[in-house]
Amino acid sequence: MTESQTSFRLADLAPQDGYKLATGLIVPRPIGWIGTVSADGVDNVAPYSFFNVMSGDPVHVIFSPGGSARRDTLDNVREVPEFTVNIVTAETVEAMNATAASLPADEDEFEHAGITKLPSTEIGPCRVAEATATMECRVIDIIHIGREGAGNHLVIGEAVMIHAADRVLDGTRVLQEELRAIGRHAGSWYSNATDLFSLDRPA
Ligand SMILES: Cc1cc2nc3c(=O)[nH]c(=O)nc-3n(C[C@H](O)[C@H](O)[C@H](O)COP(=O)(O)O)c2cc1C
Repeated sequence: MTESQTSFRLADLAPQDGYKLATGLIVPRPIGWIGTVSADGVDNVAPYSFFNVMSGDPVHVIFSPGGSARRDTLDNVREVPEFTVNIVTAETVEAMNATAASLPADEDEFEHAGITKLPSTEIGPCRVAEATATMECRVIDIIHIGREGAGNHLVIGEAVMIHAADRVLDGTRVLQEELRAIGRHAGSWYSNATDLFSLDRPA
């Protein structure tokens, strides 16, 4: 028996309600903690859960800053088309949250959140030293999606370096029970990726 359902035509919903439904249903979302630098050299780091890996050969990642509100991260990748993706785990979730504060563009979010900058090896933007793993990426494209003046910008980057703590690695395999990644749910809800199970794929 099917459960009773409510159906929403997106065109009839206020944008905020469509957003709330989608971000409440598409969970848990990974969090890209994105490090960028402005043309003036101000370092920035901010969390983006409209984020994922989208290609494996070579590795491409995407994240998506909101279109109507100004985002320093978007301004920065337009000026300096590079970014770091710092992986958020149980150890860094509080610091990640602190970097979501709206700060003036000339204020350094690393200092605000009490985290340490680590130079990248291939690109200008810094890594978060406390992060268990970081990718260094070069911007390939920035595409506006959604309504003019609103919507989002899809930032596509190609990863050129991956740094990860040895304790989460078995060669190039990542030990999921050691990584303890954090997932974003609706509003202020998060989850720990610690309740793991294995499911064999059919042949
Ligand atoms: C876990 C988390 C995920 C977020 N994901 C997004 C996102 O995908 N897109 C977005 O525009 N803002 C997102 N935000 C809000 C931004 O992080 C926040 O507005 C931040 O101040 C932007 O920083 P910036 O102006 O330095 O880029 C998220 C916030 C949190 C806490």
